[in-house]
Amino acid sequence: MSLNAHRRVTHVNHALLRMLNPAVGDMTTPRSLVGADLRMLYPQEVLEDLEPLLRRADRMGMTTSQLEMALPRAKLNVAVTVATLQHEDTRLGYVLVFEDLSDLLKAQKQAAWREVARRVAHEIKNPLTPIALSADRIRRHLERGTRPDEASLKIIRSCSESIAGAVETVRTLVDEFATLARFPASQPQPASLNTIVENALSMFNGRLDNIQVRTDLASELPHVMADPEAMKRALANLMDNAAEAVQNSMVREIQISTALLASRDAVELVIADSGHGVTQDLKEKLFLPYFSTKKRGTGLGLAIVNRIIEDHHGSIRVEENKPVGARFIVELPVAPEAIGTASAG
Ligand SMILES: Nc1ncnc2c1ncn2[C@@H]1O[C@H](COP(=O)(O)OP(=O)(O)OP(=O)(O)O)[C@@H](O)[C@H]1O
Ligand SMILES: [Mg+2]
Repeated sequence: MSLNAHRRVTHVNHALLRMLNPAVGDMTTPRSLVGADLRMLYPQEVLEDLEPLLRRADRMGMTTSQLEMALPRAKLNVAVTVATLQHEDTRLGYVLVFEDLSDLLKAQKQAAWREVARRVAHEIKNPLTPIALSADRIRRHLERGTRPDEASLKIIRSCSESIAGAVETVRTLVDEFATLARFPASQPQPASLNTIVENALSMFNGRLDNIQVRTDLASELPHVMADPEAMKRALANLMDNAAEAVQNSMVREIQISTALLASRDAVELVIADSGHGVTQDLKEKLFLPYFSTKKRGTGLGLAIVNRIIEDHHGSIRVEENKPVGARFIVELPVAPEAIGTASAG
């Protein structure tokens, strides 16, 4: 698409029209859009994303960015390049190139999923071997026909223990996998985030003994949209990580706080620790499935957290904590009924 200096359309091609349909309607032709204002083509949110690009192009001549464009019937991932057209000192207009990346990203996601499924299948096979061997050993032992004596009881007991242990491993694995695969999907409903935090903390009784856990929960926090069970799981994962991160620190401290954002439409939950922190280049990878720097980590913890927060239409990010450590910041939308009012909790 090209625009004149007043940002009116001077040219649109058919490919862009297809991308924009049905927003502009089937009857629209490239010719009929000449002279149109950008506002005729894109919803407000997209315009707000494009505006900074146009301004950056004004300054730098050309700029490229990747956007998620929410069009009326589809959400597209597009790479947008904006270049200014200039003749000597006169600004003539802009050329905008939109490249639809949706299919590419979808293919990448599918490939990632196949990889996850392959690895989970592989991990599930490991504990199955001791299960099968133990069961076999019990069967053979009983087939010999002798009444269970002390020795037999010992074997039966140890085999059943190892069966139970291995089954537990498989179950955890499948549970985590299921969470990752959005099963069961979170069902956000108006809930008190402070209560969820308290419930999550109570799951840790005893395990945070050598760590000073401080909470700073805002009073009069409005309800957020949250699935209490799912959010509790997310919090538990964040707490787990924080507890592990501070293990070798001089000061072992975790601080959990909640607060209403100034915009009043979202609540912020911060889990800050005094641990070893996260380096800049790790920040990008933490939330990917199977990324772990721990010897015994599955690397699924934060991927699950990320998925749960996504289900809640919230966001999560990691920052440096002052003076040391990491801060994970979760934002959750305030329940619609609570916007404007502040209910206790
Ligand atoms: N609070 C934190 N401080 C410093 N690094 C962290 C923190 N939380 C997570 N990380 C880093 O992010 C990585 C990924 O975390 P994630 O919870 O996904 O997996 P994990 O903790 O390694 O394994 P699992 O959760 O299965 O035990 C960790 O290995 C660690 O390097
Ligand atoms: Mg973890």
